[in-house]
Amino acid sequence: MVRFSPSPFARGGAGLALLLALALAPGCTVAGPSDPAAQAARPLRAPDVRYEPTPQRVVRQMLRLAEVGPGDVVYDLGSGDGRIPITAAREFGARGVGIEIDPELIRKSEANAHAAGLADRVAFRHEDLFEARFSDATVVTLFLYPNLNLRLRPRLLRELAPGTRVVSYWHDMGDWKPERIDSARRATIYLWRIPPRAGE
Ligand SMILES: C[S@@+](CC[C@H](N)C(=O)[O-])C[C@H]1O[C@@H](n2cnc3c(N)ncnc32)[C@H](O)[C@@H]1O
Repeated sequence: MVRFSPSPFARGGAGLALLLALALAPGCTVAGPSDPAAQAARPLRAPDVRYEPTPQRVVRQMLRLAEVGPGDVVYDLGSGDGRIPITAAREFGARGVGIEIDPELIRKSEANAHAAGLADRVAFRHEDLFEARFSDATVVTLFLYPNLNLRLRPRLLRELAPGTRVVSYWHDMGDWKPERIDSARRATIYLWRIPPRAGE
């Protein structure tokens, strides 16, 4: 659990005086609660799984397995340095969205997208994937943990449109049987498709 320092206001007059002095100092700005820069720099909470990048050849393997194309919106939930959304845009013509809890990785992803000239085709959101909205995805990619896949599974089935593809590197979805498993070259990748809902 990440804990924040108490607000200067909570520490009484000395804190308030210090804050006012800072605010009035030349060139100094005090971030308010709605300041986007301050929000982006703040860890939301501890990550559920530590950062480990998917090898680039496996990224391509995942996107090929999902048959990603120019009409797709590819969401990577827990997007690390942004390599999956960026590759989806650069090599498959899709649009990409990364959801990432670590603000440093969001900054890195944005720099990577900018360097690749893809800033208009990919977006990175500093959010907790368990709180984030992703219902406009046509493809969702995951490299998490088995228990996190299982925790996410009811939302995937409820909120994604039928036909949306879900691809996971390494970890399955319990008794939700994948449509395909690609185990080439030591990497195991699973593909599911959101089934039609009753009455649709
Ligand atoms: C194993 S890494 C995979 C990174 C990337 N998807 C890739 O394949 O290269 C998992 C990522 O999920 C992020 N993460 C962990 N818990 C999260 C959460 N609750 N919400 C958003 N991101 C989270 C971690 O910071 C880390 O970058």
